[in-house]
Parts: sequence; C-alpha cells; structure tokens
Amino acid sequence: TYIVNDNCIACKYTDCVEVCPVDCFYEGENMLVIHPDECIDCGVCEPECPADAIRPDTEPDMEKWVEFNRKYSELWPVIITKKDPLPGAEEMDGKDGKMELFSE
Ligand code: SF4
Ligand code: F3S
Repeated sequence: TYIVNDNCIACKYTDCVEVCPVDCFYEGENMLVIHPDECIDCGVCEPECPADAIRPDTEPDMEKWVEFNRKYSELWPVIITKKDPLPGAEEMDGKDGKMELFSE
C-alpha cells in the first residue's frame, strides 16, 4: 500500500485524489489519508503530491503510518474531487513538528 505522511498536514494540496483509480483517499480537517486495504498499489498518486507526502509502505518504519492511515480512513469521508490547498500550504511544506498541528 501507499500511505500519506505528516507532511500533508496544513498543506492538503489534494492533487492526489484526482488520479486514484479506486477513490481511496479520505479527508480530515488538515490532511488526507489512504485506506490501506483499498489501495491497489498502483503508485500513480505518488508523483502528483507537491509535498511528497505519499510514500510506499516498503520504505523503513512505515507500520505506524499504515495504522494511522487505516484508523482515520475509517473515520473520515472519502474525497474524490480536487479543491484549493490550505492557505499557506507552500510555506508549510517541509516544516518540522507538523503532528502538533494535526486535527482529527
Ligand atoms: Fe490510489 Fe494508486 Fe495511490 Fe493507492 S497508489 S492511493 S490506488 S492512486
Ligand atoms: Fe496531501 Fe499531497 Fe494529497 S499534500 S492532499 S497527499 S497531494
């Protein structure tokens, strides 16, 4: 599966949702997640993210991100249409300590 990591927080560009063939992105207040059981591992969303927040779970130490994505994809609504990024998205791209800004 692919997952969305904390660099999506406070950016939420949403370019990713338009390309997913199985519509498995779910939207929280300030980030998206991927449902790991619905993702078919096609990889097309990865290069679409301007914040490079989408990663394959084959990278090291991804288990916590898979569980995080699973948890919130079961709580949040699906998103299939691109919208404007959050205000200040460009400035927030790559900032440290984004988990502190996370809103459920
Ligand atoms: Fe969707 Fe493919 Fe990205 Fe998985 S890897 S979230 S199926 S676009
Ligand atoms: Fe987030 Fe990147 Fe999608 S910032 S909303 S994972 S395009």
